[in-house]
Amino acid sequence: MKDTHFICPICKKELLREENTLKCENSHSFDISSSGYVNLLNPGKKNNSRAGDSKEMIRARTSFLNSGYYGKIKDTLCDIVRAKSGGLIADAGCGEGYYTGNIAKACPDSYVIGIDMSKYGAEHGAKTARREGVTNLSYIVSSIFDIPLTDNSTSTVINMFAPVACSEFARIMKKGGALIVGVAGKSHLDGLKRVLYSDVYDNEESTDEYDGFKFIECKNLKYEAKIVGNDTIKNLFTMTPYYFRTSLDDKKKLDGVEELSTHIEVNFYIYEKI
Ligand SMILES: C[S@@+](CC[C@H](N)C(=O)[O-])C[C@H]1O[C@@H](n2cnc3c(N)ncnc32)[C@H](O)[C@@H]1O
Ligand SMILES: [Zn+2]
Repeated sequence: MKDTHFICPICKKELLREENTLKCENSHSFDISSSGYVNLLNPGKKNNSRAGDSKEMIRARTSFLNSGYYGKIKDTLCDIVRAKSGGLIADAGCGEGYYTGNIAKACPDSYVIGIDMSKYGAEHGAKTARREGVTNLSYIVSSIFDIPLTDNSTSTVINMFAPVACSEFARIMKKGGALIVGVAGKSHLDGLKRVLYSDVYDNEESTDEYDGFKFIECKNLKYEAKIVGNDTIKNLFTMTPYYFRTSLDDKKKLDGVEELSTHIEVNFYIYEKI
C-alpha cells in the first residue's frame, strides 16, 4: 500500500503512511489490514454497507471468473486501458479485483487502486495481489460516491458492471483522462435468461452523457460461450442483477442445468474528461 493521493474520509486532508496506518494531520488514522487493504469508509457517516457485495457473492464471482469465460472481456479492457494510461488508475466498484489485478499486470508503469464498498472484495483482491507479487496495486473499502482520492489525481477510471458515480469520477480525474464504463450489451447472457424466464427481452443499450466528460466511442465485444457445470452456471447467476430480481420458483429452474449456451456481450463506453 503506497500513500498515493489518498485523503482522509473525515477531514479530507492528505493521508500519509506511518508504518501500518494511513494518518492525516488531524490524527485520524486508518489501519492497513493484515491482508493489505485499508478501510476508508468514514466511520461517522451512515454508510450503506448493503451496497457492497456479500462474502457469498464475492466467492461466486471469484470462482466463475477464474474459470476463464470472461477472459476476452478482461483482455479487451486491458487493451483499452494500456492504450490510454500511465499514472494513476482507479477501478471503481472493483469487486474481487479480477479486472483490477490484470490491469495492474498489463500496465506496470501505472499505479492501480481498486475501490469497493465490499470489504470481502477488497480483502480478496489484496490477498491475490500479495500472492502474485503485484506491487503497483492497492485496494480500499470506500463508496465510489465519496472517493478518498485527491482532486485531479487520476488518469483513468474503470467502472465495470458497477454504479456510475460520474461527478466523483470527474472530481478525481485529470483533464484528458479516460473513463471506461463497461456494461452488458444487448444479448449479454441471453442463454441464462432463457432458462429463467418465459419472456426474454434484449438488454437496453444507451450512450449516457455525463457532465464533465466528452463521449469518445463505444467498443463492442460479443462472443458465444458454452458454460459447463451446474456450480459454474449458478455462480454466474449469483454475480448478475438477476440474482436479486428472480423469484425462488424461477431460481429453481437452474437446478440440474449442466450446460448453458449463451452470448456474452459487453459495451465499453469510453469518455474523455474535459
Ligand atoms: C456487479 S459487481 C462488479 C464487480 C467488478 N467490477 C466485476 O465486474 O467483476 C458490482 C460491484 O460494485 C460494488 N458497489 C456497489 N455499490 C457501490 C458503491 N456505492 N461504492 C462502491 N462499490 C459499490 C459492489 O460491492 C460490487 O462489488
Ligand atoms: Zn482527517
